[in-house]
Amino acid sequence: MRTVEQLSEDLGGLSGRTVLVRSDLNVPLDGSTITDDGRVRASVPTIDGLREQGARVVVCAHLGRPKGSPDPAYSLAPVAARLGELLEQDGRGGTVSFVEETVGERAAAAVAALDDGDVLVLENLRFHPGETAKADEDRADFARQLADLADAFVSDGFGVVHRAQASVYDVARLLPHAAGGLVRSEVEVMRALREDPQRPYAVVLGGAKVSDKLGVIESLISVADRLLVGGGMVFTFLKAQGHEVGTSLLEEDQVDTVKGYLDTAAERGVEIVLPTDIVVADAFSADAAHEVVAADAMPADRMGLDIGPDSQELFAQRLADARTVFWNGPMGAFEMAPFADGTRAVAAALVERTREGAMTVVGGGDSAAAVREFGYAEDDFGHISTGGGASLEYLEGKDLPGLSVLEDA
Ligand code: 3PG
Repeated sequence: MRTVEQLSEDLGGLSGRTVLVRSDLNVPLDGSTITDDGRVRASVPTIDGLREQGARVVVCAHLGRPKGSPDPAYSLAPVAARLGELLEQDGRGGTVSFVEETVGERAAAAVAALDDGDVLVLENLRFHPGETAKADEDRADFARQLADLADAFVSDGFGVVHRAQASVYDVARLLPHAAGGLVRSEVEVMRALREDPQRPYAVVLGGAKVSDKLGVIESLISVADRLLVGGGMVFTFLKAQGHEVGTSLLEEDQVDTVKGYLDTAAERGVEIVLPTDIVVADAFSADAAHEVVAADAMPADRMGLDIGPDSQELFAQRLADARTVFWNGPMGAFEMAPFADGTRAVAAALVERTREGAMTVVGGGDSAAAVREFGYAEDDFGHISTGGGASLEYLEGKDLPGLSVLEDA
């Protein structure tokens, strides 16, 4: 993958050049309030580096999953405002503006008005049907319109490199391009996890659905030494072990697949660690009545919303000697205080491992948001990835279109 420095050399410098940057600014919003700005912060260094070289920077990104037409609920305006605040904090000068269009006359006029060192954020790419179009020619057509706005392309949205979308894949084929610093550093960490983890290598997986993680579980049971499972997906594991799970999240159609994973792990000597106790509640609500029960004795009318205190100790103990830990997905409904302790315990165990020199990686929007909400700093962990699906697909060994397209000069 070419670096921004190489791209700059190829073009005889970036001063006065218009550079289209694909960032991942897909952040959680409560109305128009950003509840975790981690991805916005992570996108700043590449944009700043380009402005410093005198480039005119056009940032493009998606937010949520609008259906190919403008939808005010998914406007990037509040995110652009946050990016502007962060960019202005460096006192470097230059304007940061937003245009309510992806491509078209207004976008072209806003680009033409840029000065060296200015930044323009385009409206949500997914307001245009070409961004996610299945037909190659529709995507290519939109990519052509994006490419016409700029002289070069920098891919810096690691969280989206697993998508073969116009602004991630097609546009890189039309412009001189480079991988931004965020993509490069994320790939370096993920490659180390995939190819050369220090052992013992423990992986903690949580989140709602096991069906989202089938590929990665399958590949991890050949690579990891230990797999600790929590979150909504754990109930499909408990069911596969023959336990009843009350009204908890359950993917019946995955029970046999999970049984297969448990057998394969046993054959390969990979330890699967499941919770021994569960916090159950009578409703999915912060003020629901709740109690701790054994994982093999869940009442029929209760749903599991977190791992229990014994499991928190067990998980901490099974992480205590790990030299590498990868964590994706919360252990429970951490956004509600009574069900946050399991996720908090895993975060604390990773922080402890980081202090003792182990490599710790947090991946996935929810787990990354959780550790920031608990008040941890970036350097309490070896790496907090901006990629959820992208980091899982990378670890799974899949070819990621947004990365392979950058391999071609
Ligand atoms: C993410 O949130 O994982 C990325 O921004 C990709 O978003 P998507 O799953 O909607 O493509």
